[in-house]
Amino acid sequence: MTNLASAHDTIRAVQWRGDHLRLLDQRLLPTEEQWLEYRDFQAVTQAIKDLVVRGAPAIGIAAAWGVVLAARHGAPMEQALAELRAARPTAVNLMWALDRMKACLAAGADTAALEREAQAIQDEDLAANHHMGELGAALIAPGSGVMTHCNAGALATSGYGTALGVIRAGVAAGRINQVFAGETRPWQQGARLTMWELVRDGIPAKLIADSAASHLMKSGAVKWVIVGADRIAANGDTANKIGTYQLAIAARHHGVKFMVVAPSSTVDMATATGDDIDIELRDTAELLSVAGRRTVVEGAQAWNPVFDVTPASLIDAIVTERGVIEQPTLARMRAVFAA
Ligand code: MRU
Repeated sequence: MTNLASAHDTIRAVQWRGDHLRLLDQRLLPTEEQWLEYRDFQAVTQAIKDLVVRGAPAIGIAAAWGVVLAARHGAPMEQALAELRAARPTAVNLMWALDRMKACLAAGADTAALEREAQAIQDEDLAANHHMGELGAALIAPGSGVMTHCNAGALATSGYGTALGVIRAGVAAGRINQVFAGETRPWQQGARLTMWELVRDGIPAKLIADSAASHLMKSGAVKWVIVGADRIAANGDTANKIGTYQLAIAARHHGVKFMVVAPSSTVDMATATGDDIDIELRDTAELLSVAGRRTVVEGAQAWNPVFDVTPASLIDAIVTERGVIEQPTLARMRAVFAA
């Protein structure tokens, strides 16, 4: 990583403190930077459900520390693994991290060994992000504008970010000169979290309404849409934050390239296609209210799927720490991630 890129690498939202977990409360950003402390796995499970911690890799890391907390307090491990696993359905990093902790337990790990495994999961994620940053940035022509969606940044990972890692590396290398972030209704990860990260790092960034994306692409101001992922199926179909799919359609229409950036822990070769991915439906209150204040007439109904699936055919590059898969297909995915 260049010095410039490392200057843009200061946020660590998931922190293990020897006997408890500290999480930066993402529900309150950017108006409040409040840290919460977690001492049992049930509270960590609730934090994942409530989006105190969110973003696929960060959810997996937090769950791994939840298993450590369960072991420290002598909680029934089968129950801890099952409850953590059920916290959210779409991001496969959650199941991946818990499977790693379960394998460790099956091998007879004590609490100290479980702690080392959780730390390894966290450290490997950071290393993957730095590597993907360099790989993804290399695809972008110097002086490009880019667009991102949701928050696939330091807050969503162990640090540095996946899509935002590529953006951080691309800005440092002079390849990216302008970033546009979609606000990402209803939870506003783009407006509240991505803009917080980009402004904090002094990266030239403009917020757009989600509905401004096609108009922006038509203007020629962006060369790439760069997003993270919650689960990548064996054929390259990619689940990510709701609205990603329509960005991919608009990008193809306007000749804008589409990049997915995700660590190998997001790749699920056991899921054949995007049709097999469980899409989380959340409380419609998230859609019917803004910042806790009701904005829609009482009695109104709503539908709140929080992820969608972008077909592989609309993706130009999947960037992982194992390498870049261009125009992904089952065969190209298999070449990197043996089934
Ligand atoms: O509901 P969220 O905020 O957990 O959704 C997050 C996303 O969709 C991210 O793009 C994805 O998890 C990748 S984070 C590196």
